[in-house]
Amino acid sequence: MGHILILGANSDIAQALAYRYAQEGYNITLAARQINRLDNLVSDITIRYQINVELAEFDALDFESHASFYNELPSKPDVVACVFGYLGTQESAQTDFAEAKTIIDTNYTGAVSILNLVANDFERQKKGAIIGISSVAGDRGRGSNYLYGSAKAGFTAYLSGLRNRLTKSGVQVLTVKPGFVRTKMTQALKLPPVITATPEQVANDIYRANRAGRNVLYTRWMWQFIMLIIRHIPEFVFKRLSL
Ligand SMILES: NC(=O)c1ccc[n+]([C@@H]2O[C@H](COP(=O)([O-])OP(=O)(O)OC[C@H]3O[C@@H](n4cnc5c(N)ncnc54)[C@H](OP(=O)(O)O)[C@@H]3O)[C@@H](O)[C@H]2O)c1
Repeated sequence: MGHILILGANSDIAQALAYRYAQEGYNITLAARQINRLDNLVSDITIRYQINVELAEFDALDFESHASFYNELPSKPDVVACVFGYLGTQESAQTDFAEAKTIIDTNYTGAVSILNLVANDFERQKKGAIIGISSVAGDRGRGSNYLYGSAKAGFTAYLSGLRNRLTKSGVQVLTVKPGFVRTKMTQALKLPPVITATPEQVANDIYRANRAGRNVLYTRWMWQFIMLIIRHIPEFVFKRLSL
């Protein structure tokens, strides 16, 4: 059976993903900066699904540690899901470069740092799947969150290039673009229920897209059409909208 490494395992989407893959019999490595917060999750998943769950300390911003983190994993994964992310505060990021840098480094630099290692390993083995959780926010920059959006746009382009490179080695690269998801990240926001997903819906969509060998997944499905419209609004109109 397969083994999935989930990076950023304290995230709500990551935890739903852990349950979804456990249901299919995958063994799991949960990687996060505070693994002591994962004890309950580990016992629950282990009892329910009788699979092997390992924990590993991982900080996306500690770039220097990424090579030893990956090389020293007790079990090698064949699926890696890069789930960690940081929304931050757009307003502070406009005046405080430290906040802007944390947004960029978490969503882009940290992801590149760890996925470069995974990509080289999977390319050598000529197998594996890399799942990157980007965002619809990366499809077009908006005044209210363009720092986060631009970091996700960079991540989306990175994943696209990685897919282009790794296809010939038989490695799947799946770009996931969630719209609104009800999680810790969005708990302070008022989200329209009809187009807002639960972490479980997102996890189910990801699992199915991974199995189907897909390249890009919008979740929930209607976001593909919403973003098609948003991308096609002419710039002279778009720049005047309060988005
Ligand atoms: N929720 C949405 O509406 C939405 C929409 C589009 C895309 N996304 C993306 O979906 C992914 C999962 O987010 P979520 O909605 O599940 O939110 P979440 O529950 O807030 O999860 C974000 C996770 O990222 C982790 N993280 C942040 N910085 C990290 C670092 N330096 N090293 C390791 N982990 C770090 C956090 O760890 P700690 O628990 O230690 O703080 C947290 O567990 C993110 O990439 C997010 O950008 C979310």
